[in-house]
Amino acid sequence: MDSVTTPSRSVLRNSLILGLFAIFTVGLIAVIQQSTEQRIIAEQQRMQMRALNEILPDDQHDNDLLNDSFTVDDRKHLGLPNPATAWRGRSDGAVTAVILPVLTMDGYSGRIDLLVGIHANGELAGVRVVNHRETPGLGDKLELAKADWILSFNGKSLAMPAPEGWAVRKDGGDFDQFTGATITPRAVVQAVHKAIIYFNEHRDALLQLTPEEPTHG
Ligand SMILES: Cc1cc2nc3c(=O)[nH]c(=O)nc-3n(C[C@H](O)[C@H](O)[C@H](O)COP(=O)(O)O)c2cc1C
Repeated sequence: MDSVTTPSRSVLRNSLILGLFAIFTVGLIAVIQQSTEQRIIAEQQRMQMRALNEILPDDQHDNDLLNDSFTVDDRKHLGLPNPATAWRGRSDGAVTAVILPVLTMDGYSGRIDLLVGIHANGELAGVRVVNHRETPGLGDKLELAKADWILSFNGKSLAMPAPEGWAVRKDGGDFDQFTGATITPRAVVQAVHKAIIYFNEHRDALLQLTPEEPTHG
């Protein structure tokens, strides 16, 4: 009777080993997952810092850009689902440029994250893509490492080109599409245009010409 209902010592020992192994495996997976997440975050921060420096090189501001940040919260024009960090470039204390985080979900593969730098006079300082999943060889020409297309925004403003020019050539606008890929550049052009509209609507607050922080849209 006892031999049927009471587990033998070897069964107990094997159960214990199995339990310990399971705990060890779960712990190991958790550690690997956490370190991978940390590496991804560190890589994203590195890319972000590089993009900030490319958009607004050191000779165009005298402040510590990374420590001159503020929060923007706008879904309508910046596409942000949550508040996000923006930056101000200054010379002698005056804001000379802002760099806004911009998000579009209209890429071929959905989400594209951009940083859009705008000089105080409303001209684009530069645009960089910091995250995307567009197709290599087709949609990834928005990366500066692959093509110089993203530089075509430099110097553009709300008035130049006129509103109808803020589109890819296939749609009658001023911006080139990529060979065999119109969806990606169309999404980026529209997102940058909306960011410029946001800048113009909130210009005084963004440049701190008025005391209040930018209004939320
Ligand atoms: C496998 C595959 C991947 C594609 N990747 C992209 C892409 O990343 N970006 C893009 O704009 N178009 C991509 N395209 C092409 C689009 O489907 C579309 O044909 C092209 O952008 C032209 O769009 P239009 O008809 O609006 O001008 C891809 C097509 C295929 C078959």
